Amino acid sequence: LARGVREPDLAGRHVVVSAGGTREPLDPVRFLGNRSSGKQGYALARTAAARGARVTLVAANAALPDPAGVDVVPVGTAVQLREAVLKAAADADAVVMAAAVADFRPAHYAAGKIKKKDGQEPDPIVLLRNPDILAEISAERARPGQVVVGFAAETDDVLANGRAKLRRKGCDLLVVNEVGERKTFGSEENEAVVLGADGSETPVPHGPKEALAEIVWDLVTRRLE
Ligand code: CTP
Ligand code: CA
Repeated sequence: LARGVREPDLAGRHVVVSAGGTREPLDPVRFLGNRSSGKQGYALARTAAARGARVTLVAANAALPDPAGVDVVPVGTAVQLREAVLKAAADADAVVMAAAVADFRPAHYAAGKIKKKDGQEPDPIVLLRNPDILAEISAERARPGQVVVGFAAETDDVLANGRAKLRRKGCDLLVVNEVGERKTFGSEENEAVVLGADGSETPVPHGPKEALAEIVWDLVTRRLE
């Protein structure tokens, strides 16, 4: 095959990809967020579409153009992302959780803008745990043989933490990135190891996010056969 031309090995498949980062509102103008750009998730959606899949992209606050031929479902919060992913996953062959989901959300939402009070320190922000979407879809597969993929950014003991996380989440594959200054967030490139529940380890050399996406779909299609 010519370079850039792929066999449509995902034809007839429905895949769900979550991308971006959730925002957990404090009041109408403020939120707790994270630095995820959404680029890796969008690369996964684009490459899956190019390989023939029907793609649902659940996009959390990514300032990126909708990829052609992809069904984009915009969401804001972790709770909204969970709803959208569970709904789309009902008939999906694979679910890839590339989104950075906030672990916590403010317990209270102020309907009006929070204002300073003269001579007073601010009230503390009380946080609640958000649902763990990856663990939930891994535990309750919507259809038998559905392949579930997670992403993890780690700073220390990358492989050991990744292995433990893969077991905890119960997913089939976990893409582990090492993060640090200038690594991963917002960048065009990525370097990772894909850990499999079967004990496999697939190193992904430093390169474009598309290349990592292709490797993820290679590993997914192998598990779909
Ligand atoms: N994830 C999820 N729901 C959450 C948190 C995370 O579905 N509430 C997913 C992410 O989309 C990602 C994977 O879980 O695919 C790993 O996210 P990560 O933040 O590394 O895992 P956590 O279990 O939150 O661990 P940590 O305490 O290290 O943040
Ligand atoms: Ca987390």
